[in-house]
Amino acid sequence: MSELSKIWIVDFGSQYTQLIARRVREFSVYSEVVLPSITADDILKNKVSALILSGGPSSVNDADAPQITTKIYNLGLPILGICYGLQYTIQSFGGKVQSSDGREYGRSKIHYTKKHPLFKNVAENSTVWMSHGDHIETIPADFDIIALSEKNVPAALAHKTKPIFGLQFHPEVVHSEKGKEILNNFLFEICHLEKNWTAEHFINEETRKIREMVGDNKVLMGVSGGVDSTVMAVLIFRAIGRQCTPVFINNGLLRLNEQTKVMKMLQNDMGLPLETYDYSKTFLKALEGIEEPEQKRKIIGREFIKAFEEITEKHQDYKFLAQGTLYPDVIESRSVKGKSQVIKSHHNVGGLPETMKMELIEPFDSLFKDEVRNIGEKLEIPKDIIQRHPFPGPGLGVRILGEITPEKIAMLQKADDIFIQELHNYDYYNKVWQAFAVFLPVKTVGVMGDQRTYENVIALRSVNSMDGMTADWSHLPHELLSKAANRIVNEVRGINRVVYDITSKPPGTIEWE
Ligand code: XMP
Repeated sequence: MSELSKIWIVDFGSQYTQLIARRVREFSVYSEVVLPSITADDILKNKVSALILSGGPSSVNDADAPQITTKIYNLGLPILGICYGLQYTIQSFGGKVQSSDGREYGRSKIHYTKKHPLFKNVAENSTVWMSHGDHIETIPADFDIIALSEKNVPAALAHKTKPIFGLQFHPEVVHSEKGKEILNNFLFEICHLEKNWTAEHFINEETRKIREMVGDNKVLMGVSGGVDSTVMAVLIFRAIGRQCTPVFINNGLLRLNEQTKVMKMLQNDMGLPLETYDYSKTFLKALEGIEEPEQKRKIIGREFIKAFEEITEKHQDYKFLAQGTLYPDVIESRSVKGKSQVIKSHHNVGGLPETMKMELIEPFDSLFKDEVRNIGEKLEIPKDIIQRHPFPGPGLGVRILGEITPEKIAMLQKADDIFIQELHNYDYYNKVWQAFAVFLPVKTVGVMGDQRTYENVIALRSVNSMDGMTADWSHLPHELLSKAANRIVNEVRGINRVVYDITSKPPGTIEWE
């Protein structure tokens, strides 16, 4: 098998860094987000094919501006700098970057000053998405301007002899009309990479690694019924058979009849030796009286660990614990040199006790969700499982705002189930990324029959997204929403009002918390 092409994306704190990683992978080229603290040695040892330097909120003239070793420019590797990445490169080669009075932010058109392979099949006057406060004042002698923006600002530069390039706009965002072509040109016209990041490659490699790592030992697998852990369990089961045991914990914060569904799916349909544990009472007791969302998450995380410790006690002979952690969880939970904040505490990342003797296996910790789905398809997992909407680890705990009680859980489960049924009935379930109901901490007045009511509100949320990182609210048919709302008010006692959330992410998040 040929050496895996590998792009490292150096994260200078841009909100688009992950998007660059995704875009590269869409071209079947493996990419990883790395910190600016990497060394030239790291790059060589890891056989990196090329670097992309991301944008970032800093100015290269700031005292605490993030830096990367300038040795990267002498490795002979192709390098593409984007915004901050470009300005850092220009400064490193002796050019000057200055703060502008007028920020250039938003759409602009590029025109070329030179023919260049980076812009193959990209027409003159293509729209690009500029976003910069600083501009390049002096171009280093080693560089040529290859494109200018509408305001005659250098939009693209290239080193005269080395494969080093820079863009003052963001090719990774959809507003850059031919952004994909430009990235495609960088990867294949300039770096001449092979498209070898495929689901088959991943399955073969991971199977080999899992077998090698596990040997004759046993693996406990945390499964949730979600896509990620199900695909993981099937992959590991295929690799090592009954040396692995999937365990499912019911934390009492699951969707309606979830435990039964998971048992049917994994045990009956797919033949995995599933063990289920009902811890719902313990979780709900620990959450009594708690309203603050981060505190709920912490408690749920802590209870998971406690439950897992009890379960692992029973499996003393198991050396490994497998989790379906995904790449965005890893990136979101990690702080990049203090620049991008930790957004939320994801319970399945880094939350394991130090005393736990098991070693972790996280085969998907470098994958995005759609990549996991592709792998699931290749493993011939039924479509309705692969297409299940994401469900957060802390479950309904983040969908009941305010204190969690068994009554609220029961109302929310029913409302949520009705909404999902109607999405299926109207053939919309697979057209949206994720849909669910939220229980709000307010009561409002209503009228039912001749009676005045004073009851609870359910919010419905449905979003379209590629990966959950950004999302748009789903423009669902009014009849669907109307049917769901009517059924919820009529069939779920205690609910007298239903609202639909029309906030995108950003500025909203998908979950309400
Ligand atoms: P937000 O609310 O941050 O959600 O826009 C983005 C996506 O992540 C899911 N989510 C989680 N998944 N553990 C998970 O496994 C968590 O703690 C968690 N919090 C949010 C959310 O459902 C959405 O798909």
